[in-house]
Amino acid sequence: MYNVAIAGATGAVGEELLLVLEEYNFPIKKLVPLASARSVGKDVEFKGQKIAVKELTCDVFEEESIDIAFFSAGGSVSAKFAPCAAKAGAVVIDNTSYFRMNPDVPLVVPEVNPQDIALWKKTGIIANPNCSTIQMVISLAPLHREFGIKRVDVATYQAVSGAGKKGMEELLEQMRALFNFKLEKEVENREVFQYQIALNVIPHIDKFLDNGFTKEELKMVNETNKIMHTNMEIAPTCVRVPVLRSHSEAITIYCEKEVEVKKAKEVLANFEDVKVIDNPAKNEYPMPIIATDTDYVYVGRIRKDLYEDNVLHFFNVADQIRVGAATNAVRIGIKWIESEGEEFLKGKYGK
Ligand code: A2P
Repeated sequence: MYNVAIAGATGAVGEELLLVLEEYNFPIKKLVPLASARSVGKDVEFKGQKIAVKELTCDVFEEESIDIAFFSAGGSVSAKFAPCAAKAGAVVIDNTSYFRMNPDVPLVVPEVNPQDIALWKKTGIIANPNCSTIQMVISLAPLHREFGIKRVDVATYQAVSGAGKKGMEELLEQMRALFNFKLEKEVENREVFQYQIALNVIPHIDKFLDNGFTKEELKMVNETNKIMHTNMEIAPTCVRVPVLRSHSEAITIYCEKEVEVKKAKEVLANFEDVKVIDNPAKNEYPMPIIATDTDYVYVGRIRKDLYEDNVLHFFNVADQIRVGAATNAVRIGIKWIESEGEEFLKGKYGK
């Protein structure tokens, strides 16, 4: 059993982590919720009990003898405090982008590259990939094994939960304003997104770079190749849409081999945590309302290109807060316990 801390326990992903840890019956001896000084005095709920939030400090990990620390409080917070947790002897599972491309830090999607977890010993930190990357690599991995992917073109339809609780609140408040006043009128409240997000679509997530792509798009390029140990060409267009918490992606893959729709469906359906929903005759395909609050990547609209034999198109959807963040982090924790935990505990407690 482990002492587990959640840094960012009052946030959208932090709250979901509490639910997923409980659902997965994670072996917890003591749970320590951490957030900023603003949240001291608040409680979080875990297994029907209220637990007081503590302030995230460098010393708290040592003081509380933390074994596993989940971080989801933003990149600058991880930069400052994750090394404290690692130094105190905890394994850090970090949800931010801060350590992801560090060659000494494994970047892990347990369904795809569980073997990389072993690298955790170098820094004590395991990075959780970007949400759009996680659901994309889970659907690319079985197809890459079957057909050999050379290039990926992807357009995302990303939910507002990717911008945290504040992003979700901004969409809901704008929707409320639109219902109360005038449809299509620019609503007043606009802090998180560059433009009104209610009834709109914004082709801009994270900062623009000199090459015309955004940082979010480059995360998908670099993280996908790191996780899959590939050198694929990837061209993403990341778009924010007025959906609460599930991301969708329209993906085209260019393969070494000729693709076959039947085979693609078969390898996807047999892959861990993928569900194929693809029955045009009955209007069945993946959508955010199907994926929300579940732990699967849903894949559908699988079809061969009209012109090229080696090109396949499909659509995937997954819950951003769960598959794209909390559930992936907990699955990393479980794999880590399976592969390293006993040894770690032996060292720590002399068992
Ligand atoms: P707090 O609620 O005290 O601000 P979200 O991703 O939904 O926006 O949530 C962000 C999470 O990160 C919250 O739990 C927030 O705590 C926490 N957080 C943000 N900044 C800090 C900080 N400087 N130190 C500790 N926790 C922080």
